[in-house]
Amino acid sequence: MNPGTERNNRPDPRRGRLDRPRPDRTRRRLDRPRRTALEALRDIDRNGAYANLACHHVIEEQELSGRDAAFVTELVFGTCRMIGSYDDILETASGRALDSLQPDVLDVLRLGTHQLLGMRVPARAAVDTSVALAGNVVGERVTGLVNAVLRKVSQRDLEGWAGKLAGGDEQRYRSLVTGHPQWIIDAFADVLPAGELDDLLAADNAPAEPTLVVRPGLCERQELLDTGAEATRWSPWGAVRPGNPAELPSVRSGRAGVQDEGSQLVCLAVSRVPELTGGRWLDLCAGPGGKSALLRGIAPDHDAYLVANEAQPHRARLVSLALRRYHYSGHRVVTGDGTDLPFDAGSFSLVLADVPCSGLGALRRRPESRWRRWPEDIPELVELQRELLASALRVCAPGGIVAYVTCSPHRDETIGVVSGAESDVEILDAPALLPEVPDCAASTDPRFVQLWPHRHGTDAMFLALLRKN
Ligand SMILES: C[S@@+](CC[C@H](N)C(=O)[O-])C[C@H]1O[C@@H](n2cnc3c(N)ncnc32)[C@H](O)[C@@H]1O
Repeated sequence: MNPGTERNNRPDPRRGRLDRPRPDRTRRRLDRPRRTALEALRDIDRNGAYANLACHHVIEEQELSGRDAAFVTELVFGTCRMIGSYDDILETASGRALDSLQPDVLDVLRLGTHQLLGMRVPARAAVDTSVALAGNVVGERVTGLVNAVLRKVSQRDLEGWAGKLAGGDEQRYRSLVTGHPQWIIDAFADVLPAGELDDLLAADNAPAEPTLVVRPGLCERQELLDTGAEATRWSPWGAVRPGNPAELPSVRSGRAGVQDEGSQLVCLAVSRVPELTGGRWLDLCAGPGGKSALLRGIAPDHDAYLVANEAQPHRARLVSLALRRYHYSGHRVVTGDGTDLPFDAGSFSLVLADVPCSGLGALRRRPESRWRRWPEDIPELVELQRELLASALRVCAPGGIVAYVTCSPHRDETIGVVSGAESDVEILDAPALLPEVPDCAASTDPRFVQLWPHRHGTDAMFLALLRKN
């Protein structure tokens, strides 16, 4: 995930796992949480793993719980979020190009830097434990370097480093302090009212608590609330509950799941579209199935049958898993390319096109993702999004609804795609369908819903509702 070299990252077969004993005679005392965090960071950095999955995996493997598990999570998530800034700081502090460092040494330095600049770990403890970790994992010969670099890092706080590196450049300062690449800040500033940018960047860096969702018809929300969860602000199906969702019987049994409230609100708006008819509904890009499950749950109220389509077979299996508790007579999961559907034109009364996107609206939950995306990704995504929207409109019946959804607020992926289809459709007033949600109209066009982490505490979901002429 090294911002500069992530695309070239490949697992290095010469490098062993952390648990393999090192030949050094002077092995230091094992610091399990930090070692565990290092293992997760390796997996993320070199194998392209998702931070949440990598973190969950190592915590389970090491059987950590309570404070140790929370420490590892903060260390890994925080380091991933700020890695671009930390690498710039480390380059200056070490006086050398980072690719001249052994990958394990670099990861130890990154974790140490987060403890110094992003956590309340006392400087001496952060440096000493990092030195010990480097000695343990790499060897005594690198401990002097780690010690010297981290001591230098500890001489300033994050703002001090940002000021030094930015040298009066305000934009660069903001990028360094908030750990957001400049092109992402620019994309947000392009669609966000002036004055809200810093609130959004701060919200992106605040850990999001797990949000649960009931499968309508299978579970009552009260069952979640009875476990100590708190009702979501607007969604009638959601509840927020710290801790591991898999502990709950309702989640384990498939009668409830995990889903950001923004995604729930998108489905709520769709369920309220005036004259929404039944017949066949299509979820065009369904994996892993969160919205499919909500659509499947409300389909009986409209006498609708759901077809859930997903391009990736393994993600289609996740959709089947999300729907497993519903009777099979009300839905079907199919694997296929949404741009080339085997369905007749006009065969669905509702099509949800929750298209693949840059995910810039979900940076809270995916701390590493901001460093894995590049501005060059956007045109390629937009082309696919246009094709998927065209395909959705083709299979939608006249008078039917296409809901176009992204978890990115980027102008090109949102209004840019929808405006290309405007000639064939009537654009509905989507925010009017969520009257209880304040300030949810997009500033680019008030007929679209745009949710924001800093305003709504949700992912930055975009929704356009189109009625086919
Ligand atoms: C944003 S995710 C959908 C999230 C899902 N609706 C949910 O709520 O759980 C986009 C999905 O589109 C799938 N996808 C990508 N290209 C596709 C294509 N050409 N046709 C259909 N699905 C595609 C991806 O594999 C991914 O699972």
